[in-house]
Amino acid sequence: MLSSPTPIALSPDLYGHAEVVAPLDNPPEDSLRAMSSSNPPPLHLTADMRRLSTPWPICLMRAEQLAERRLAEGKVLDPACGSGMQLFAYCARLRRPGIGIEIDSDAALLAAANGRRIADVHGDTWVDDSNVLVGDGLDAAAAIASVRANGRIISVLHVDPARPRDAQRHSLDEMEPPLSRLLSVWSPYLAEGPAGPGLIIDLSPRLSEEHMLEVEQLLHSSWPDAPLTWEWVSTGHGRIDRLTVWFGSAADPRCDARILRLLANGEVYCLGGSSDCPVAEIGAPPREGEWLTIVDTALVAAGLHDEWIERALPRKSEHRWLRSEGRRPLLLSSAEPRMHDPEVDAFVASTGKVAGRVKRPPTVANIDSLLVTIRSAYLSKLTLRCSLDPDEQPNIQRELDRAMRIYPRGRRGFLVDLPTDDGINWFVCVEPDGSTSR
Ligand SMILES: C[S@@+](CC[C@H](N)C(=O)[O-])C[C@H]1O[C@@H](n2cnc3c(N)ncnc32)[C@H](O)[C@@H]1O
Repeated sequence: MLSSPTPIALSPDLYGHAEVVAPLDNPPEDSLRAMSSSNPPPLHLTADMRRLSTPWPICLMRAEQLAERRLAEGKVLDPACGSGMQLFAYCARLRRPGIGIEIDSDAALLAAANGRRIADVHGDTWVDDSNVLVGDGLDAAAAIASVRANGRIISVLHVDPARPRDAQRHSLDEMEPPLSRLLSVWSPYLAEGPAGPGLIIDLSPRLSEEHMLEVEQLLHSSWPDAPLTWEWVSTGHGRIDRLTVWFGSAADPRCDARILRLLANGEVYCLGGSSDCPVAEIGAPPREGEWLTIVDTALVAAGLHDEWIERALPRKSEHRWLRSEGRRPLLLSSAEPRMHDPEVDAFVASTGKVAGRVKRPPTVANIDSLLVTIRSAYLSKLTLRCSLDPDEQPNIQRELDRAMRIYPRGRRGFLVDLPTDDGINWFVCVEPDGSTSR
């Protein structure tokens, strides 16, 4: 246990020291404009903070979501605040003061400087009443005393706990500080809105369904009727980037599942609704002319696939799932998905019309037989979107690219693998004109 927490005020006097620990990337003069996802404030971030912190557009989108909720009066608390980015994005949007607690004194100093930097861009009265404490986020009583407060002063508790880099079990007890202890020590200080306290808890993105249930039970054991929204964040690389539970006054009572899809240009698409039944896979292999679509992993994990399909496919189109697990969930449909709709496109990794089937695996030695199918589909580029040895994949892709350079005017396509009656087969798909492969 640390000695009593030391509060740091959010003051410009911190900038000199912060600049030594982690210099700003972008000069502040360029950023003194309204807070937006394309215009992040200048922040002091160490390499570890860059790796661990929530991307700025997601911080902002979450702050927007929180601003829509009816919260109790009070401050925003982050008892493991790291860079302070997410905490002070909430404070700036809600115009409420915040308390950050950070066990690492250098990180705490940077968080306080970052709070002030965010206030410089989006200044308000919240900053004078905000603090970062160097201390243990589990020592709630000492933290509250150190800011000379008492009682239920916390309207929102957000925590993104540290997790070991080599986490194996992705279980709750790997989180630091641990969730159950955090809840028990902070409960006496949580102000309750109409739907209970406001809690936002980041968890391991690979948490199993059992562990998710464990989180729900833990929260509902203290506040049985409070609403709960699960949120998945995806950057579209075939894995979930973040998994968060929004609870009580912070939850959206209209949806129990929500996905935030962060695009490379910083735009964030939000899809929310009621979680559907799990996907049922139907194994019969695709036929030529049907459409194969690799969808965002988060879509199936969140159970929002039916909601998306309604938007993505014409009413009369038939569809079935060929694969629901892993990095490349695969949807087969009789019609082309409506890729011109940005909210459809945001959740698609690749889509294309099936043009041929290959029975031999794509290896450097087998490229000639693959080229026969590629040529008959008039392709100038084929991206490998199948399971391959990660060391071999770049070599095969390079050889393919070299062999296909002689057809510069062709279409783009991709290759997926699927089990069939005679073992794994590989399907060549042709992307629609004008598509941009991710
Ligand atoms: C995943 S990072 C938080 C990232 C933060 N959300 C951001 O946007 O930068 C977790 C942080 O918790 C801090 N931490 C771990 N245990 C703690 C404790 N008992 N009390 C306070 N901070 C703690 C770590 O030092 C680390 O900076």
